Amino acid sequence: MPVTKETASAFGLAGTAPTLAERYPKDRLVAMENRLSTDSTTVTYKTESAKIAVGKPFSIEVVAGMPAHGHGIAHTPSEKIRSRPIKIRWDGFPLAGRPADYPRRLRGRQTLEPNRKGQGRALGFPRSLRRLLWPLLAAGCSLISAAAASDTPVYFTDDEKALILSRGPWPVKIGPDPSNRVSGDVAAIAYGKLLFESADLSIDRGRSCLTCHEPALGHGDDKPRGIGRVRVDRNTMPLFNLRLNTWYGWDGKSDNLWAQSISPILDPRELGMTPEELQSRIAETPALANPYRNIFGAYVTAHDAETAMVNIAKALAAYQETLTSGRSAFDRFRDALAADDAAKIAAYPAAAQRGAKLFVGRARCDLCHFGTNFTNGEFHDISLPHFPEQGRVDKGRYGGILVLRRSRYNLLGPFNDDAGRTTAGFTRHVRLTLRNWGEFRVPSLRNVARTAPYMHDGSKATLEDVVRHYSEISEKRPHQDDDKLLRPLNLSDDEIADLVAFLMTL
Ligand code: HEC
Ligand code: HEC
Repeated sequence: MPVTKETASAFGLAGTAPTLAERYPKDRLVAMENRLSTDSTTVTYKTESAKIAVGKPFSIEVVAGMPAHGHGIAHTPSEKIRSRPIKIRWDGFPLAGRPADYPRRLRGRQTLEPNRKGQGRALGFPRSLRRLLWPLLAAGCSLISAAAASDTPVYFTDDEKALILSRGPWPVKIGPDPSNRVSGDVAAIAYGKLLFESADLSIDRGRSCLTCHEPALGHGDDKPRGIGRVRVDRNTMPLFNLRLNTWYGWDGKSDNLWAQSISPILDPRELGMTPEELQSRIAETPALANPYRNIFGAYVTAHDAETAMVNIAKALAAYQETLTSGRSAFDRFRDALAADDAAKIAAYPAAAQRGAKLFVGRARCDLCHFGTNFTNGEFHDISLPHFPEQGRVDKGRYGGILVLRRSRYNLLGPFNDDAGRTTAGFTRHVRLTLRNWGEFRVPSLRNVARTAPYMHDGSKATLEDVVRHYSEISEKRPHQDDDKLLRPLNLSDDEIADLVAFLMTL
């Protein structure tokens, strides 16, 4: 629901929200039974709702999202509610390592420990009678749970429904990349495809981008780690919906797609070129030299080697931007839910529906995998090993930020075609902190059935392995920041199967 003056006042937000709404008309607040207000550094919950108990912890899930970019970062401060109206101050939510100054989507949650004694009393039976009644009750419950496990319709609360709806509609439309003047250009897209498939881009003419990014596998591969001239340290990322990324690579070492396309060309383990070698290769291959001249307005040798390489990378980027994931069974379900179309909702398997409920509910996957592309676009440590080889450590986001800052090809550098640097905000403000050590990018989950094996190191062979990892995750973790987001879920085998069924439909 967009925040308009009307909805704002319906939520009791008069005063703060209309200004928010004027500044960010597309932002959404997820309504709860309580009321909330927010400004740039303070979140205040106010509620008259008796549903939230005083004296019990109340955890707020805060999405410090940038509406213009459609993503943000999730945080779960937890406070003990002391009195009503509930007011919680929070001084700044870190976004990309700095306090975020953006409106947030907020949800509150309170899981009260079931009060066994209270329940007993509520039943109001004397102890002896209760003993007799238990087996009867238990039998009733097992009947109910057997029914739930079969294909009976799944009930979604308003909150769950809102979270599921926020994953669409799909596809999303996004314009050309302002940092790349040939983005969206038909000739550059065709040229980019040619370059992507050409072995002339590798030093020994033995490989191309296609070697690791196979179209049939979502432009990824089926190996734990990419193999070029030698094996690299990380799992090959599939290529689709790339325009939706803020960062590229598992460590986000690039802030734009053309910079990310330069690195495999130069990496000695991948295509192993130098800018000079690349330039003469293009010049001596007419099929690659002619389109270059048409698109960039000069012979490739008329440019210096670095400029020529960046131009090649921009054509590669223009092509890769066109790789998108199509509408999935989940998207059809999501639209049916939006339209309240019972017949179409029923066409989505019940196991996947139960999985969807878990995903946005108890399993809390949506804290990081949120939005239409199922990712907040940021970095977390989910307790995977950081050692690609014995004695060699993968620093993850920490190393990524160091490379990003040094790079001449970042959005603050001389090759950004957007003089206003309109998309360079994240790069300008990125801050290096120790918590970045061992963090990796939250991958999109679209197409995930096709992109095994999983994780930055390819260490999980199947989606079941992934879900089991979250279910059994160790609570003793070196990185404390994510510990509130990740707790062992202790899922049953049925719940694991439901989550996998859901993931398979994305
Ligand atoms: C040796 C196998 C290999 C080759 C060859 C290769 N890649 Fe990759 N690609 C990878 C791996 C591994 C990653 C993950 C990199 C990382 O995080 O360090 C990746 C990541 C990417 C990404 C980032 C995607 C994202 O979502 O952030 C892009 C874009 C990309 N490659 C484009 C290319 C292009 C263009 C070429 C050819 C010029 C190419 N790749 C050649 C293995 C390869
Ligand atoms: C704290 C944030 C966070 C939460 C919560 C979270 N994930 Fe992830 N997820 C990540 C990160 C980060 C990665 C990549 C980690 C890596 O490779 O080091 C990832 C990777 C994955 C992958 C592998 C995708 C691929 O292409 O390799 C799947 C599948 C996945 N998560 C599903 C889930 C499910 C299901 C849940 C809920 C049970 C969940 N995630 C909860 C952050 C999160």
